[in-house]
Amino acid sequence: MDTEKLAIDGGAKTRTQAWPTVGKRFGEEELQELREALDQNTLFYMHGGKTKAFCAKLCQTTGAKFALACSSGTASIHAALKACGVGPGDEVITTPITDAGTVVGIIYEGAIPVFADVDPASYNITVDTIAARYTSRTRAVVVVHLQGNPADIKPIVDFCRVRNLRLVEDCAQAWGAKVDGQWVGTFGDVGCFSLNDFKHIGAGDGGAIVTNDEGLYRRAWLCIDKCYDRVRSSARGLPFCAPNYRITELQSAVAIAQLGKLDRIVSRRNELGRRLVDGLGKIDGLIPSKEAPGAYPTWWFHLIGLDPAKLGANAKVLGDAMRAEGIPCGSGYVAPVYLQYEFFRTQAAFNHSTWPFSNGPVPPYGPGYCPNAERVALECLNFPLNQWLSEQEIDDTLAAAAKVTAAFRKRAGR
Ligand SMILES: Cc1ncc(COP(=O)(O)O)c(C=O)c1O
Repeated sequence: MDTEKLAIDGGAKTRTQAWPTVGKRFGEEELQELREALDQNTLFYMHGGKTKAFCAKLCQTTGAKFALACSSGTASIHAALKACGVGPGDEVITTPITDAGTVVGIIYEGAIPVFADVDPASYNITVDTIAARYTSRTRAVVVVHLQGNPADIKPIVDFCRVRNLRLVEDCAQAWGAKVDGQWVGTFGDVGCFSLNDFKHIGAGDGGAIVTNDEGLYRRAWLCIDKCYDRVRSSARGLPFCAPNYRITELQSAVAIAQLGKLDRIVSRRNELGRRLVDGLGKIDGLIPSKEAPGAYPTWWFHLIGLDPAKLGANAKVLGDAMRAEGIPCGSGYVAPVYLQYEFFRTQAAFNHSTWPFSNGPVPPYGPGYCPNAERVALECLNFPLNQWLSEQEIDDTLAAAAKVTAAFRKRAGR
C-alpha cells in the first residue's frame, strides 16, 4: 500500500489553517451578575444572594437536593471526605490518573490513598479494580470521571452500598456529564465540581458540592466554613476542626452566569466528541476513549489510545508527526500521581512527620503498582477538544490521524 509522505518528512501538511483559539468565555451576563453582587454592599456568602442563587440553580440543574459552593474543587473533595467521616487510619480507594486535588483531602484527613488501576480503554477505575484494593480498612471510594467521560458508576454504587462504603464522585472534569440521563455527581453520596479557570465553566477559582443526603450537606457545610454553624446558632462550640474553604459572592456571581451557558458548552463538546470517537474507531492502531453504558460524555479533552505493536512508534513520535500535520495534540497525559508526587516516595507530606502514612500499611507506591495506569496515560495522544472547534477541525484531525497511522503501520510492516 502506498502512503502519503508525512509533513514531518517534508510532505504537505494535512492542515495549513491556524487552529481556532479559545473563544470569549465571559461577557455581559457575568458583568451583570457582578454588578448586582457589588451593589449588595457585601461579598460574604451568607449575607448576599449570589451564592444562595448559585446553589439553588445547581440543584435545579443537576437534580440534587442540596448544593454548597466553596473555594475550589480540591476543597470540595476534602470537605466531602471529612463530611463522610473519613479519618486517621482509614483507606480511601481512588484513581492514580488524576490531579493532586483528588488526593490532598484524603491525606489531610489522615487517611491513606490506595490506588485502583484504570481500565486501559476508558482511563477510569472500575468496580473490579476497586474490589481488588478493598480491605477492612477501606472507608470510602473517590471515583474521578476523567476527561468528562463518566466512569461505569452504577456497579460501583452497588459495591459501595453493600460494604457500607462512602462514595464521592470527583466531577471536576465532568460538568454536565450523565449516565442514563442522570448527572454524574448524583450517583454516590457526594458529587464534587471545580470552577477553576480551565474547566468547562469557571469563576477564576471555586468549587461545588452536591448531595441528596441532608446530614452530609449540613456536615459538609461545617467542613467548608471553619465548623461555624451559620444556620442554627451563633454559639460556636466547634465540635471538630475545619478549614476556611468559603467562596465569595463575586465568584458565585460569575458561576451563575457560567451555569447559564453550560448546556450549550457541554452539548457542543458531546457532539464533537461523538464525531471524533466514531472516526477514530475506524482507524487501525488508534483506540478512542471507551464510553460506559448509557454515558453522555462532555469531553474536557480526549485521550486517543495508541497500539504501539501496530504502529511501531510511541506517543512522542506519533504526536510529533500529528503536530507537523497541523493538529495540536499533546503526547501522553499525566503519570500516576504516586510516581509523580515526591511525597508518595518520601512519605513526607507534612514537614517533619511521616503521618498519615505511619498510621497503617503503606501501599506499594512505585513502579508496577498500577500497570495499566503507568502504561496507558503515557501511551496516548491528548486531543484538546473544546466547544470552539468546528466539524472541520475534527475532520482534519481524523484525516491527519489516518495519514500518520498508515505511514507508521507501513514502516512497522503491518
Ligand atoms: C480530576 C480533578 N480533580 C480535582 C481537581 C481540583 O480542582 P481545583 O483546581 O478547583 O482545586 C482537578 C483540577 O484540575 C481535577 O482535574
